[in-house]
Amino acid sequence: MKVKIIGAGSIGNHLAQASRRMGWEVAIVDADAAALERTKQDIYPKRYGAWDTAIRLFKAGEEPKEGFDIIMIGTPPDSHMKLALSAIAEDPRILHIEKPMATPDLAGVAEFEQAMREHPQTIVTVGYDHAVSESAAFVRDMAMKKEMGEIITIDVEFREHWKGIFGAHPWLAGPWETYLGYWKRGGGSGGEHSHALHLWFYFARALGWDGADSVKAMFDMKSEQGAEYDRIAAFLLKTKKGESEWNSLIGRVVQDVVTYPVRKWARMQGDKGYIEWYCNGVPEGDLVRWQIDGQEAQEKIFAKKRPDDFYRETVHYQALLAGDIKPEDSPLSYARGREVMKVLKEAYAV
Ligand SMILES: NC(=O)c1ccc[n+]([C@@H]2O[C@H](COP(=O)([O-])OP(=O)(O)OC[C@H]3O[C@@H](n4cnc5c(N)ncnc54)[C@H](O)[C@@H]3O)[C@@H](O)[C@H]2O)c1
Repeated sequence: MKVKIIGAGSIGNHLAQASRRMGWEVAIVDADAAALERTKQDIYPKRYGAWDTAIRLFKAGEEPKEGFDIIMIGTPPDSHMKLALSAIAEDPRILHIEKPMATPDLAGVAEFEQAMREHPQTIVTVGYDHAVSESAAFVRDMAMKKEMGEIITIDVEFREHWKGIFGAHPWLAGPWETYLGYWKRGGGSGGEHSHALHLWFYFARALGWDGADSVKAMFDMKSEQGAEYDRIAAFLLKTKKGESEWNSLIGRVVQDVVTYPVRKWARMQGDKGYIEWYCNGVPEGDLVRWQIDGQEAQEKIFAKKRPDDFYRETVHYQALLAGDIKPEDSPLSYARGREVMKVLKEAYAV
């Protein structure tokens, strides 16, 4: 299995290591020679113990173009659609695009979707890794089995101060030096923490709800050294089954870049109890807590480290390629990533 990863930044290294853990061949491509050097000398050895000499590094423009089973795009969001367009022309079996898959104005999306129709054999995915975590699947399954009765409402929060993000990017002075500080480029809390919107739909759809019927959003916008970003993005979401207003589910998503300690959390309230998901809720990993009316509250820990999140993605890709999971059933499917973009586009009104 041959994997090409575009972007040697934070996510590019995670995806490279997860692919190597699968025993796959890896090539990493970056437009910036300093980023390739940093990968080899700094990010990869510091995170995973040692540089892996089997990984091949290429300056953009000098990389091989054919014969890759998987191409992964791990560059800033405003470059995703252009790079995806040329990657799909190479006919990979899977094309993974990092989240958010595009900028909120959806620039380049129509052209890319045309290319997807011309390359139907390529499975296109968007990297919302939390949706393939064991803990999120456990929460989803408990709700689907109606352990907490009928689910009445869903809340998801991804709230993390910039400090955490910049801890992973020590070479950046602040949000103004990266796409993160510009909502129009797919940064801000709306784009950066769109995992929360994605998870909301992941749970709602598993329960048979159809996607967003209406969305109300509010942003706390901030301008700093030329950067412009929403430091808080709050969404109220409503989804319906059929046309009746009497058969609807409303819920809430909050994403921000101001909260510390970090809180990445989801909650489903049923008519017979609740279930809560805490991403990294304990030092060992994710925590799920639930209570069914008349019973003691219960907890389950899903031990993991950050690299395991991306390993789950590569394991998922192996299952997709083996035909064990249908592309349309994958929580990482293009359609689910696109659904998040629709909400963001409407919310930012671009
Ligand atoms: N799934 C996750 O949990 C997760 C985690 C981190 C980042 N991400 C996503 O991954 C993407 C990248 O984030 P990051 O933190 O790794 O960014 P980063 O700034 O650390 O790295 C991006 C790299 O892409 C390179 N690059 C930019 N344009 C390029 C081009 N046209 N061709 C080749 N290389 C190019 C840059 O030189 C840089 O090295 C974003 O969309 C982000 O939201 C996802």
